[in-house]
Amino acid sequence: MGDPVTDCSARLQQQEREIRSLSAEIDSLKNPQNLSSSPHLDELREENTKLKYRLNVLKRTLQDERTRCTKSMTNINQQLQQIFGEAIRASCPELDAPPLAVTPNQQPKFGDYQCNSAMAMAQMLKVKGVKVSPREIAEKIIQNLPDNDLVQKTEIAGPGFINIHLKRTFVSKLLSNLLINGVQPPPLAARKKVVVDFSSPNIAKEMHVGHLRSTIIGDSMCRLFEFLGYDVLRLNHVGDWGTQFGMLIAHLQDKFPDYLSVSPPIGDLQGFYKESKKRFDEEEDFKKRAYQCVVRLQSKEPEFIKAWNLICDVSRREFQKVYDCLDIHIIERGESFYQELMTEVVKEFESRGMMQLDEGRKIVFAPGQSIPLTIVKSDGGFTYDTSDLAALRQRIFHEKADVIIYVTDSGQATHFQVVFAAAQLIGWYDPQVTRVEHAGFGVVLGEDKKKFKTRSGDTVRLMDLLDEGLKRSMDKLKDKERDKVLTPEELIRAQRSVAFGCIKYADLSHNRINDYVFSFDKMLDDRGNTAAYLLYALTRIRSIARLANIDEATLRKAAETTELVLDHEKEWKLGKCILRFPEILQKILDDLLLHTLCDFLYELATTFTEFYDSCYCVEKDRQTGEVVKVNMWRMLLCEATAAIMEKGFEILGLNPVHRM
Ligand code: ARG
Repeated sequence: MGDPVTDCSARLQQQEREIRSLSAEIDSLKNPQNLSSSPHLDELREENTKLKYRLNVLKRTLQDERTRCTKSMTNINQQLQQIFGEAIRASCPELDAPPLAVTPNQQPKFGDYQCNSAMAMAQMLKVKGVKVSPREIAEKIIQNLPDNDLVQKTEIAGPGFINIHLKRTFVSKLLSNLLINGVQPPPLAARKKVVVDFSSPNIAKEMHVGHLRSTIIGDSMCRLFEFLGYDVLRLNHVGDWGTQFGMLIAHLQDKFPDYLSVSPPIGDLQGFYKESKKRFDEEEDFKKRAYQCVVRLQSKEPEFIKAWNLICDVSRREFQKVYDCLDIHIIERGESFYQELMTEVVKEFESRGMMQLDEGRKIVFAPGQSIPLTIVKSDGGFTYDTSDLAALRQRIFHEKADVIIYVTDSGQATHFQVVFAAAQLIGWYDPQVTRVEHAGFGVVLGEDKKKFKTRSGDTVRLMDLLDEGLKRSMDKLKDKERDKVLTPEELIRAQRSVAFGCIKYADLSHNRINDYVFSFDKMLDDRGNTAAYLLYALTRIRSIARLANIDEATLRKAAETTELVLDHEKEWKLGKCILRFPEILQKILDDLLLHTLCDFLYELATTFTEFYDSCYCVEKDRQTGEVVKVNMWRMLLCEATAAIMEKGFEILGLNPVHRM
C-alpha cells in the first residue's frame, strides 16, 4: 500500500477521467442527429439511461472520496452552489451564463439556505422571447438537482425562491470532522505567492495612526492568506530614500561632525527633523548642500550611506517598539532597495517609446488615466511613482507573485490606479492572471469626528496611544476587581491582550473603506461587538468544560464517538453558524474586507449565548451543586464554537488568554 493521500488522489483522478468520458458519451447520445440517423433508437435510449446511472454513482463516490481525502472544512455554500449550478444549467441549457445565487437564509423558518436564481433566469428568458414563470423554472431546477448528501428538502416560496433545508446528519458529520481534525483551511488548488505591502512608515518621520491602520489591516490579511496556505511575503515599503535625507544628512554633518566614529544622540529624530527642515527653508546655502547630499547618497558614497544608516536605525528602533506590542512580523524592504531597478524602469519606458518630456520632467501617460506618472524629476531624481513601478516590476518578475496587495489610506488610490495602469500598458502583467490590488482605508477620526489629534492639536504618537490603551485596560480590569482573582502575571497578560486586541479589533470590525472614530471607551466596552466582549466570551466557553471537570482527552475521545444531535432549535442554529466559517473566509479572500470576519465572530458569540441559555450542557443537583449529568454532544458544540473563535482571533491578530 502506498501513501493514502497519493492513493486517494490517484483514485480521484481516475474517477474524474471516467466521469469526463461518460459525460462525453452521454452528450453524443443526446445529439439529435445521432438519434434520427440511428436505426436502434430504443437501444440507444436504454444505453443512455444506464450511462446516466453509472455517471451518478461515480459522481457520488467522487464526492465521498473528496470528503474522505481531505481534512479541510467543507464550504457548505460552495457545495450548494455546485449542485444548484448543475441543476440550473440543466434546467435552462439555452442560457449561456445563468445567474447563480445561493445565500444563507436569515429567517430559519424558511430553510437554511436560499437559491434566488429563478427570478433572474425568467427575466433573461423573457429577453430571448421565451415566457416562463419563475416558479416553473424553480420547479425545473429542483427536478434537476443531482444526487447529493447535504440537501434534506427544498420548497418553493413566493415568486420563485427555493428554500433549502440541510440534512441534520450532514451538518452533524461536518461538526464531528471539525472536532477531530481541528479547524483546517479549505483545499488549495495550487500554492500561490502573495505579497502584502503594508505598514510602510517613513523614516525620520513619526509613524502615525494611518500607518497603524495599515499595520493592523495588512497583518490580518497576511494571517488570512497564511491560514489558507498561501506563500506570503510581508513587506514594509518604508520611505527611506526621499529628499528628506538630503537635509537630514547635511544637518547631521554640521551638528555631529564625528558621526562616522561616534554614534550621534539623535533619539529625538522628530526634533532633529524639524531643525533641519527649518534650516532647509531658511538657509539658501544649506538647501543647496542638502540637494547635493541627496545626489551623493543616491550614488551610494560610503560616507553618506553611513549617515543614512544611522538615521534609519533610530527610526527602525522606534517602529519596532510598535511592532513588538502588536506582534507584527514584517520584512523591511524600503524604497532604497529599488534604486538600481528604478534606473532600469526608466530605460524600459524610454526604449518602448512610452515616455514623454514635460518641462524637464520625464512622464508616462497610461491609457484612461488623466494624470501622468513622473518617473524622473527635472533634477534627475526619482519619485514615489518610480519606486512603486520598480517595486511592482520586481514583485511580478522576481518574487513571481500571483497576488500583490497594497494597504494604504484611500488618499493614495489614484496613485496606485495610475501605477497599475502603466504596468499593464508596458505589459508586465495581465490582470486576469495576476491580482494586483490597492486595499484602501478611510482616515482615523477623534471622538469629535475631526482629524485624530491630541488635545493640544499635535499628531498622536503611536507609542503614547498604545501606552494609554494599556493604562485604560488595566483600569478596567481593576474596576472589575480582576486584580484580586488573577496572579500578577495573568493580570499583565490580560491587560495586554485586551488593550492591543481592542485597538486592532476596533479597526478591523469597521468596513475599512469608511473613516473610523477612535474611541477607547467604545473599544474597551465589554458589551457589543468589541474585542473585550469576544475575548471574555471565549474564556467563558473555555471554562464550561473545565468547571465540569472534563479534560481535553475526554473531549477528544468524545468527538470520535459521540454523535452531535442537533434536535434543539438552538443547537441547530449554532451548528450551522459554526460551519459558515469557510464561506466567510472565502468572501474575505475575494473582497479583502475583514469586518465580515468580526461580524461573523460576534454573531457566533451571540448565537452561542442563545444556545447556552436554553440548552443545559451539564445538569447539576439543585441542592449540592454536584454535576449529575453531562450532555456530551453539547459540550462538543462548545468545543467547536471555541475552536472557530480561536482561529478567527488568530486571523485578526488577537491573542486570547486563559483567564482574564
Ligand atoms: N510610505 C508611504 C506613506 O507613508 C506608504 C507606502 C505604501 N507602499 C507603497 N508601495 N507605496 O504614505
